[in-house]
Amino acid sequence: LPTLPSERGWVSSSLYNYQGFWHNARQLQGVISCQKHFQAQETDILLVTTPKSGTTWFKSLLFTLINRTRFPPTQHDHPLRSNSPHMLVPFMELNLYVNHDQNPPDLSSFTSPRLFSTHLPYKSLPKSVQDSPCKIVYICRNPKDAFVSLWAFTNQLRLEEMGVNSLEQVFDQFCNGVSLCGPFWDHVLSYWRESLKNREKICFLTYEEMKEEPGVHLRKLGEFLGCPFSLKEEDEGLVDGILEICSFEKLSNLKVNIEGKLPSGEKNSAFFRKGEVGDWKNYLTKEMVERLDKICEEKFNGSGFKFK
Ligand code: A3P
Repeated sequence: LPTLPSERGWVSSSLYNYQGFWHNARQLQGVISCQKHFQAQETDILLVTTPKSGTTWFKSLLFTLINRTRFPPTQHDHPLRSNSPHMLVPFMELNLYVNHDQNPPDLSSFTSPRLFSTHLPYKSLPKSVQDSPCKIVYICRNPKDAFVSLWAFTNQLRLEEMGVNSLEQVFDQFCNGVSLCGPFWDHVLSYWRESLKNREKICFLTYEEMKEEPGVHLRKLGEFLGCPFSLKEEDEGLVDGILEICSFEKLSNLKVNIEGKLPSGEKNSAFFRKGEVGDWKNYLTKEMVERLDKICEEKFNGSGFKFK
């Protein structure tokens, strides 16, 4: 197990392969501790994402969805208005279980249903998650946008101390499967296949689908999580209210997300860049697009899943 290089957080230059996937040192410690200690409860909800697939957005959406009675989205002191979504819904392996090799963290302050987030691939999930009827919401994103977003994020965090990684170099690694929690396609396919086997447990959704039909998918998430919208809530426009408070426009303009920092050092603003589908067109060359398309075609061939 590597020693923790710094408290700097989520992206570092060295990646380590563990159970077939790449993790940075900080994350890897958390992964192993989480596997060892986490005990799932039946009512738990896990938001699982590939990095840069809209985790921040879905943390906000799920938090607001399941807590809508306690915290109506129109409430002027709604927790999202003064807290980063990452503080409201912590990552298991990146926050809760970091530096908890020996003893599990105290999770007693989490009220049921507990909502956690993770980038773990399916086979690296703690056994109790796989065995329990708890729910998993899985989100992935078109690899071209996810890649560009990850590259931009990494460089933003590295900028001051290490200089910028070239797009070409990072792209080559990404295509070779070496990226945070990559190989990207293995991550996606692990959940896609499990979701086909157990639709009660795993809701598989893409960033693009949510962008295209947010109302439809928010309602589906409500049903999947056992908290469907009532007629009264529909009449009161609650679906639109939740989408509104969680929109890129609203969240990225909140003081906490402009000026705030996470305890691990990242600026909250780093999680809000453009929030669009198709920004890869501004970054990738024709050759890069052809290479990535070809890889995806091969990897997803026969799986029944295809990015739009
Ligand atoms: P871009 O870099 O393409 O803009 P993650 O939260 O998993 O780190 O993903 C970050 C990506 O989600 C970034 O994408 C970010 O801008 C986008 N994002 C953040 N909040 C969003 C929101 N409320 N709606 C849509 N996209 C959002």
